[in-house]
Amino acid sequence: MRIKVTVKDNNLVPGLAGIPAAESAISYIDGQVGVLEYRGLPIEVLAEKSTFEEVCWLLLYGKLPTQAELDTFKQQLVEQRAVPQKVFDLLAALPADGHPMAALSIGYNALGMTSAPCNVLDSAARQLAYAQLIASTPVLIAAHSRLRQGKKVVPTDPKLDIAADFLWMLNGEKPADLVARVLDVALILHADHTMNASTFTGRVVASTEADPYAVCAAAVGSLSGPLHGGANERVLQQLEKIGSAAAVPAWLDKQLADKGKIMGFGHRVYKTKDPRATCIQGLVREMFAQHGTTPIYDTALKLEECVLERLGDKGIHPNVDFFSGIVYQKMGIPTDVFTPIFAIARVAGWLAHWDEQMQDNRLFRPSQIFVGLRGVTYTPIAER
Ligand code: SDX
Repeated sequence: MRIKVTVKDNNLVPGLAGIPAAESAISYIDGQVGVLEYRGLPIEVLAEKSTFEEVCWLLLYGKLPTQAELDTFKQQLVEQRAVPQKVFDLLAALPADGHPMAALSIGYNALGMTSAPCNVLDSAARQLAYAQLIASTPVLIAAHSRLRQGKKVVPTDPKLDIAADFLWMLNGEKPADLVARVLDVALILHADHTMNASTFTGRVVASTEADPYAVCAAAVGSLSGPLHGGANERVLQQLEKIGSAAAVPAWLDKQLADKGKIMGFGHRVYKTKDPRATCIQGLVREMFAQHGTTPIYDTALKLEECVLERLGDKGIHPNVDFFSGIVYQKMGIPTDVFTPIFAIARVAGWLAHWDEQMQDNRLFRPSQIFVGLRGVTYTPIAER
């Protein structure tokens, strides 16, 4: 399914919209009908039947693992959760009100500084890096969240899988099975998404043969933006600002009159409802059934209804970020940790794309259309 490419008269394509940056076999999107597949498997099937660790293997190695492969991979992930104390000490020294996404980027680079150099041209070396970065991402985020509150780091529990272990390390309490499973599914849904901005960022950095820590640190910076992964945090702030379902129409009128963006809506590729948003709504219902509802969901449903009335014909529908914060808030996760959770999942996709890039690498170095001045004379400062 080809996306419409709008070429300006000087051949510039703003935002490279619809322009292929690479060949990839990892995930597939049909934005017209709302399809997302990882290595040919529909996201809905994986959300129902798989686990985040199994999906990591699928993305990285191109097929579902055997039981032996999965057991070995999970053991490797547990071993790689060991983050050096120096890194925790650095996280503890960061400004307490700094954003956790900045802390994660710093954490990745600190991890790189305390790890053996990675020969990025060697696939076996890359496989070791996959496990270390997937395993350490939740450890870095949970540790930073506690350290900035003046609390002690909660050590990882080797008996728990990534989702449950993250909640344990974040809260110091073992999560209910349903809550751990809901987070596991949310991680599956966020793990990869073709050539999104943070993945493209990672591939550009990878193409210079930089190490995987630099690749992930750069990708985190890209993901943190409100137009990308940072939207999930802003959606919750937006819903809280609206206040109630009754207040939605007036708020929306003003937001559109002011040419403001509705966070959690719209997508460069999906011109129908993001299939992940639909899956996440299922998780909202599961959480509400067991843990009670929150009025903010009613506000969200009313906002979806009103935005579709006003912007549906422009292909503006809820995206993955619209409902996810409602689930995370129900889990008691701090709002500014929502986007780091996106990174816990997406690091698997970034690493799969890193490997793909290194298998047939060519430095990314696009051109430009020069619109500046030439032949300018140097004027001495006294004469300016
Ligand atoms: C993610 O790429 C990925 O795959 C990303 C992601 C992933 O898994 O990696 O799916 C995750 O980043 C989801 C997106 C999260 N961001 C938001 O929710 C922020 C709000 N959304 C918008 O900023 C916007 O929809 C983008 C940035 C996501 C996409 O914008 P595009 O493709 O560049 O489209 P555009 O900005 O050119 O908009 C086209 C028109 C414009 O109107 P006109 O100027 O043509 O009149 O649609 C309007 C826009 O104003 N529009 C919106 C809107 N999104 C688009 N108007 C109001 N609110 C919005 N959210």
